[in-house]
Amino acid sequence: MRSKLIVGNWKMNGSRAANAALLEGIAAGIDGVQSAIAVCVPAPYLQQCEDTLKGSTIAWGAQDVSAYEGGAYTGEVCAKMLCDFACRYVIVGHSERRAYHGESSELVAKKALAAMKEGLTPIVCVGETLEQREAGQTFDVVGAQLGAVLAQLPPAAVEKIVVAYEPVWAIGTGKTATPEMAQEVHARLRAQLQARAGEAADSVAILYGGSMKPDNARELLARPDIDGGLIGGAALKAQDFLAIIHAAE
Ligand code: G3P
Repeated sequence: MRSKLIVGNWKMNGSRAANAALLEGIAAGIDGVQSAIAVCVPAPYLQQCEDTLKGSTIAWGAQDVSAYEGGAYTGEVCAKMLCDFACRYVIVGHSERRAYHGESSELVAKKALAAMKEGLTPIVCVGETLEQREAGQTFDVVGAQLGAVLAQLPPAAVEKIVVAYEPVWAIGTGKTATPEMAQEVHARLRAQLQARAGEAADSVAILYGGSMKPDNARELLARPDIDGGLIGGAALKAQDFLAIIHAAE
């Protein structure tokens, strides 16, 4: 049985003061919670997370990582640096990075590998655009995105990743995939993981992301292959994030 994982993706939001209140609010509401919880924050706030969350059950991580190990790559942050701030997770291949920074699935695969080499857990994002869904290409698109990462991993390493299915048309739009739509894609992703790693794929968490909110989380999280959520907007309010965390219990 997989336990649930609820991850907040703060995107480019936050300030020292706002983060302090948010983290304190989350920490105050998770007594007895069984699910794993994490926040993926802008890199400048990793130190604040380490200082605030050390010793708590809330893990933290980054939203991107360089594919390179270090050196002359201005503006990049490598996996070793994230480890210096005790990160557990790093998001790779978020659709905003694919769309606005031209990240290819091959680059995403390199980033996932670079993260894993340092012991970080990559949260590998996949998802189709509305146009692709309407053209009946959803499985081809997400299959190719995940496949690019799986092709780089020895089967034994597959169980060390987290996958997040985020339909692009559902991100920040208030439109959510129905639980049936999401489950259908998650099941296909699970089958793809199984084809590569066998039974080990059963322990891989596949998260749903895209307008997951307190009022739709319970239904989504009840589906057999939806193992948690990657939450954007609703992760910025302690009350909403906690409501989703409790919906997963
Ligand atoms: O990574 C989380 C994400 O893209 C979903 O964002 O705001 O639709 O929950 P949101």
